[in-house]
Amino acid sequence: VSDEARLVGALRDSRKYRHVCDETLGRVARWALARAAAPAAAEAVARRKLHQVYGAYATPEAWRTAEKTLDALPPAPSAAAVEEACRRVLRLHASTRERLPIVERCFAEVFAITGPPASVVDLACGLDPFALPWMGLAPAALYTPLDIDERLAGIANRLLALLGRPRSAACLDLLGDAPLPEADVVLLLKSLPCLERQDAGAPAAVLGKLRCKAAVLSFPLKSLGGRERGMRESYHRRIEELLPRGRWTKREYPGEVFYIWSR
Ligand SMILES: C[S@@+](CC[C@H](N)C(=O)[O-])C[C@H]1O[C@@H](n2cnc3c(N)ncnc32)[C@H](O)[C@@H]1O
Repeated sequence: VSDEARLVGALRDSRKYRHVCDETLGRVARWALARAAAPAAAEAVARRKLHQVYGAYATPEAWRTAEKTLDALPPAPSAAAVEEACRRVLRLHASTRERLPIVERCFAEVFAITGPPASVVDLACGLDPFALPWMGLAPAALYTPLDIDERLAGIANRLLALLGRPRSAACLDLLGDAPLPEADVVLLLKSLPCLERQDAGAPAAVLGKLRCKAAVLSFPLKSLGGRERGMRESYHRRIEELLPRGRWTKREYPGEVFYIWSR
């Protein structure tokens, strides 16, 4: 057995990372083996990276609670019951929890700027699919949420089915080779810093392979620990480096700033 296969096996056996997609575990394992002093030290390096870019946002119990919340809904739930369940699930992941106070207006305002999309791809989506009741998408609009966790894709697909939408959620590693699906609007919310921590060139590479008419990028205005640390200014500079001048608009809300890039 190769060092890579052994390390992937160890990560796959852990409670925290067993649902992360194969491609991501393989990539992080290779990265950790290349930089750890010895194969035995690579597991700690890999775990630290996975925690930083994935595990820190939601615990395994959060996924379980999300599943239970869906289990608890009656067979044909009212719209109000679904919304209540969605709010509960949005609270389970750090990113969407922070967005709850603005969820009713941020998407409506962002999609007013892009124009009503016939298709949306939500990259590195986390639990953002549970914001669908407030996105105001047309019933026929195709919404495709993608992240690196099989269980998350399963949970998102259950919600999509409840909402009468195609079960389009799947795994996609943005640092892998898979082409991105085409869409009118791509959402890449609060994820560029997370991609950058996996590879300094990843934000530019991912933006370079987008296939969409408009892309919506957002950044948190506080760190997970709750501190501000000049994040607004440094993310703004990053956008100025990454996006062509004059092609984007900015909308700031408490806790999150959105950049809407018209391509
Ligand atoms: C800060 S959270 C943002 C979640 C969601 N976009 C939101 O705003 O609520 C970062 C997300 O990026 C995902 N992620 C990390 N690395 C990724 C990669 N290489 N490809 C795709 N998604 C990734 C994590 O699983 C996590 O859900």
